[in-house]
Amino acid sequence: MAHRNTEILSIGEVHRAARILSRGGLVVFPTETVWGLGADARNREACCHIFEAKGRPQDNPLIVHVADTAILSSVAQSLCPAEEAMIEAFMPGPLTLVVPRSSIIPEEVTAGLPDVGVRMPREPTARALLRECGFPVAAPSANRSGKPSPTTLEMARAAMWGRVDAIIEGPPCEVGLESTVVRVRDKELHILRPGAVTPEQLARAVPGLTPVYSYLKPRVGAPCAPGLKYPHYKPRAKVVVVDRLGELIDLAQVVHAEGTYGVLWPASECTPELLSNLPGNARVRAYEDIEAYARQLFSWFHELDAHGALTIIARLPDDHGLGRALRNRLLKAAGGVAV
Ligand code: TXA
Ligand code: MG
Repeated sequence: MAHRNTEILSIGEVHRAARILSRGGLVVFPTETVWGLGADARNREACCHIFEAKGRPQDNPLIVHVADTAILSSVAQSLCPAEEAMIEAFMPGPLTLVVPRSSIIPEEVTAGLPDVGVRMPREPTARALLRECGFPVAAPSANRSGKPSPTTLEMARAAMWGRVDAIIEGPPCEVGLESTVVRVRDKELHILRPGAVTPEQLARAVPGLTPVYSYLKPRVGAPCAPGLKYPHYKPRAKVVVVDRLGELIDLAQVVHAEGTYGVLWPASECTPELLSNLPGNARVRAYEDIEAYARQLFSWFHELDAHGALTIIARLPDDHGLGRALRNRLLKAAGGVAV
């Protein structure tokens, strides 16, 4: 891959970023979910460079980002009433709809699939950039393939320096997990990837559709979201998920002998007694609530890797609301299958 001189742009310089994109360049930008690695979605060659910069397999399609419903309509061949209802309820926001693609989207973007994932981010910098562009921007998460998605400027820099033309500054992501990906099929709503827009919220917006948890299905034949078949979200440290305090203590007795280890645990249970019961060099990251856990998960992975942690013991949250998305990312990071 050819080296690129990467410049850091401030939020006030989105016009420059838009110009880089319109000339076929690559720009990393913040969204409310994770940082994205963008190229002009109409430009075949520019989109191929995204795959190179990420080291991403060519058969994993890219999500197309849009500023408004007019641009969204231009990338979709058609929209059904249920899709319109979800656009109305959740966009801009952390939802990606998989819809039939129009001819302005080259097949390299969708890896040859007839459908395209579209998303309208709500993060102010992303919105300003997309408005300034006035064209759709293809952007996967700005991590190297297989690694956790960047949720801070520092992570985006570490992953993409020298591989892209610009990185736009921004605060840590508000959500911290990638968007919910859904597709309507007949009377069913297929949830291809769980995210901050929860199945419970979707069911209220489109009560006529039966939710199908596609991401939990065993992988038989071609996965419905091609990305699902690749390893994901893996930090260097080994991730072990547990759901009880007793298991944490037992595991800590084993892993502390190997070196530094991380613990991701609810603050309400991080009593002085627990902390004194953790042997060796434990780096505890306590979260106040499930939103805070989601927001910080990937940056904690990054940080604990930097501290040389060999193991990360992480609490597995309950399987509802945002907990579904966290469980999905944690189980993948642990190399396990979703149960
Ligand atoms: O929050 C997000 O969605 C972030 C930010 C940057 O917007 N983007 C992101 O993109 O996570 P990416 O490429 O890392 O993940 C997209 C997922 C992949 O698992 C991919 O297989 C699936 O969505 N996907 C994309 N287009 C699809 C399509 N046409 N049909 C089925 N699945 C699709
Ligand atoms: Mg990704």
